[in-house]
Formats: sequence, C-alpha cells, structure tokens
Amino acid sequence: MAETVLREETFRRLRDIIYEESGIFIPDTKKYLVEKKLSARLGARGLAGFEQYLELLSAGRNADELAHLFDAITTNETSFFREPEHFGVLVENVLPEMLGRCGMKSVSLWSSACSTGEEPYTMAIVLRERFPSARFNIYASDISSQTLDAARRGLYNSYSIRNTPGPYLAKYFKNGGQSYELDPGIRNTVRFMNINLADDRKFLNGMDVIFCRNVLIYFDTRSKRKVVSRLYNSLRPGGYLFIGKSESLHDITRAFKPLIFNKTLVYQRTT
Ligand SMILES: C[S@@+](CC[C@H](N)C(=O)[O-])C[C@H]1O[C@@H](n2cnc3c(N)ncnc32)[C@H](O)[C@@H]1O
Repeated sequence: MAETVLREETFRRLRDIIYEESGIFIPDTKKYLVEKKLSARLGARGLAGFEQYLELLSAGRNADELAHLFDAITTNETSFFREPEHFGVLVENVLPEMLGRCGMKSVSLWSSACSTGEEPYTMAIVLRERFPSARFNIYASDISSQTLDAARRGLYNSYSIRNTPGPYLAKYFKNGGQSYELDPGIRNTVRFMNINLADDRKFLNGMDVIFCRNVLIYFDTRSKRKVVSRLYNSLRPGGYLFIGKSESLHDITRAFKPLIFNKTLVYQRTT
C-alpha cells in the first residue's frame, strides 16, 4: 500500500523547493496542507510516497512536475469586482490623472497574480465602460498554468460573479444555466501568460499600472522585498502599484509614494 505520510524531513525539503522556486513560504503549521494538496500527485505519478516525489522533483528540477506542484499548492481564491474600491480608484483617479498628465494614447496594465482571470477581466470591463474610445494593453499572469487555462476559457460559476453589478452582468455575460460565459469582446482584450514572480527573467517592463493583490501574503519578507523591487522596475515613472487591502508595504520598501484616494491606499513610482 502507498506510504502517504509526509515525514518532517521530507516536508522541510519539499518546503525549501517550493520556497526557492516560487517565493511561497509554508510555515511548519501548514504541513498538513502540503500533505493534503500533494497526495493527489503521488496517485497521478504512481509513486509510493513523498520521498519518491521529492526525488522526481529534484531530478534536474523537473519543470513539468514543478508546474503541477505550483497548481497544487497555490491558493487561487478570486472573484469579479473583488475589493471593488480599487477599480473605482483606477478609473476615477489614477487613469484620469495619468491620461491628463501625459495625454497617453495607450496605457499598459498588468494583473501580476491573476488566478482564473476575474481581476484582469474586471479591469477590462471598467475600462470599457469609463473610457470607451481609449486604447489599453491589459496583461495578466500567474504561476499556475491550470488557472491560466481556466482564465482563457472565460467560463465562470455563480460564486465568481456574485459581486458583479447587475447591469454589467447582463451586458458582458451569457448565462448558460450552470455557468456564465464572458463576452469574447472583453476576453480578447486580455493577454495571459505564465510569469513566476520569484523569477525576474520574464517580468514585463514599461507598465503604467500593476495589480499585485492578495499574493504577497504567501511570501516571507525576503521574497516580498525582491518581488516588490522588481515590480517597481517594471513600472514607468508615475506608474501605480495596487496591492491587496489586507497587505502592506510597511517594512518592505520606501521607494513608492503612498497615496490615498477615496480612503484607498495605492502606491506610485515617482521617478
Ligand atoms: C489568492 S489569488 C489572488 C488573485 C487576484 N489577484 C485577487 O486578488 O483576486 C493568488 C494568486 O497568486 C498566484 N501566485 C502565487 N505565487 C505566485 C508566484 N510566485 N508568481 C505568480 N503568481 C503566484 C497563485 O497561483 C494565485 O492564483
């Protein structure tokens, strides 16, 4: 019978790999979660135990299995119009200021931990509504390939759309009974890609706005500092960073200028 108990030593080695490869820090108290989330991988690979899984993963840092590991261990909770204040500030404060200042013809936005797509698609909807004739480039990325596949499909359940204002639901979604299909006109405005925030080789540059919401919570201070400093470099001077409402850059960096619009904190790269 398969040995599916995760020993302390194996847990620590697995945890170290996850940390090195993704920046995600798993405390000792979350060992049971790793055990639960990865036991399906043992079945899928026909392995007898976590020790064999560790060997498989370590063999030349098996890229294919690492992708499955990221799918398994990440938490992908999201929804349309999550923390809606951010989208209000984006279209009522940040973008009017930016368009007024530079008269920009085209603005680039990046949802850098987009999960199944609800965040960048919400951006696309509010931009379409508020600036119907402006040109925007919306990029969206995540470490999990599985979530990106779901994002590209654009099919959502009632939980995902529960905070979507009624008029937008009627205008941009087709209710197919079991699921809600997002309008292809919105879907086609977002470019999805696999980017690991712990690996700066694929970071985007020349961004005007970056959303990095509800992902820094999974990193320790060292990983947060690295990621936030790379995001700083990805922004143009004058560009804005949005992080989750329960997250903070306190102790992480002083490079950004904190600004409050409508009781909502956002960060600007000034130079
Ligand atoms: C809780 S979801 C947040 C989704 C969305 N930003 C929101 O606020 O609703 C966190 C996402 O971060 C992604 N993630 C975790 N570590 C990452 C990394 N190193 N690079 C890129 N994405 C990562 C996860 O796969 C997950 O989809």
